[in-house]
Amino acid sequence: MENKKKVALITGAGGYIGGECAVTLAKEGCAVAVCDINEATVTKTVCRIEENGGTAKGYVMDVTDSKSVDAVVEKIVKDFGRLDISIHVAGGSARVAGPNARYLPLIEQEDYVIDKVLKINLYGAFWVSRAAARVMVKQGEGGRILNFSSLVAYNGLRCCTDYAASKGGVISMTKALAKELGEYGITVNAVAPGVVERPDVPETEYTFKSNFLGKKCLAEDVANLVEFLSSDKARFITGQTYVIDGGRGLAMKASD
Ligand SMILES: NC(=O)c1ccc[n+]([C@@H]2O[C@H](COP(=O)([O-])OP(=O)(O)OC[C@H]3O[C@@H](n4cnc5c(N)ncnc54)[C@H](O)[C@@H]3O)[C@@H](O)[C@H]2O)c1
Repeated sequence: MENKKKVALITGAGGYIGGECAVTLAKEGCAVAVCDINEATVTKTVCRIEENGGTAKGYVMDVTDSKSVDAVVEKIVKDFGRLDISIHVAGGSARVAGPNARYLPLIEQEDYVIDKVLKINLYGAFWVSRAAARVMVKQGEGGRILNFSSLVAYNGLRCCTDYAASKGGVISMTKALAKELGEYGITVNAVAPGVVERPDVPETEYTFKSNFLGKKCLAEDVANLVEFLSSDKARFITGQTYVIDGGRGLAMKASD
């Protein structure tokens, strides 16, 4: 796939980290299929890429619905002629279940919240990985599949058992799929961010204190890792999950 313009599909590309990944890959010369359930934010990311002189097209995709995923992936291949990179950023914790969903201990949590969190984070990674892998295998030129996990998958988090389990599932799925797709030259990896700064979340001291570098993790930091893992330079890396947290996961309660 060295000399052709690569085509990258990114889910959650209307969101904060996904948007940054889309802009970064477009700057690297990829044509980007910007996918998200939120049409307005899809348009925003496509505009950001086009303003920078990049190539992008927007698609409304619900990652919890395998039929929606299959139909959009088919459309992307029709529009761009190929698919080389598939990055699955769509996800989130309890708030993805709706305005009334709350972070609660498991013994108090409601069925629909657990259901939705697992469907978006874990099933979403399944449906998009499967659809993308089918195209890449048929294409016969290798490819890159990249899932989004979280530091919470390793360390757990109170009132987020659903999120922790879904992101842990993503790590296991990444390993198993890497074994299945290696013979086709398709690598499968995951990234696991700690706390990433968001413009819509009020700045708290906690953001700085939560890692050993004393700096905020920006969406660009995550996008840079995603760019590397999506590139030819990462051709020998597969089945791995990369934590990007400024060392936050090294901390032990009440002592460093
Ligand atoms: N922000 C952090 O601190 C952090 C830390 C660890 C992991 N992560 C992971 O990184 C990813 C991106 O996080 P973010 O902070 O950019 O969140 P975000 O809310 O800005 O982006 C998530 C995007 O997913 C989209 N989405 C939600 N449901 C969808 C569905 N059913 N189908 C398609 N798209 C859907 C949303 O519309 C949104 O644009 C998530 O998987 C999240 O779990 C984030």
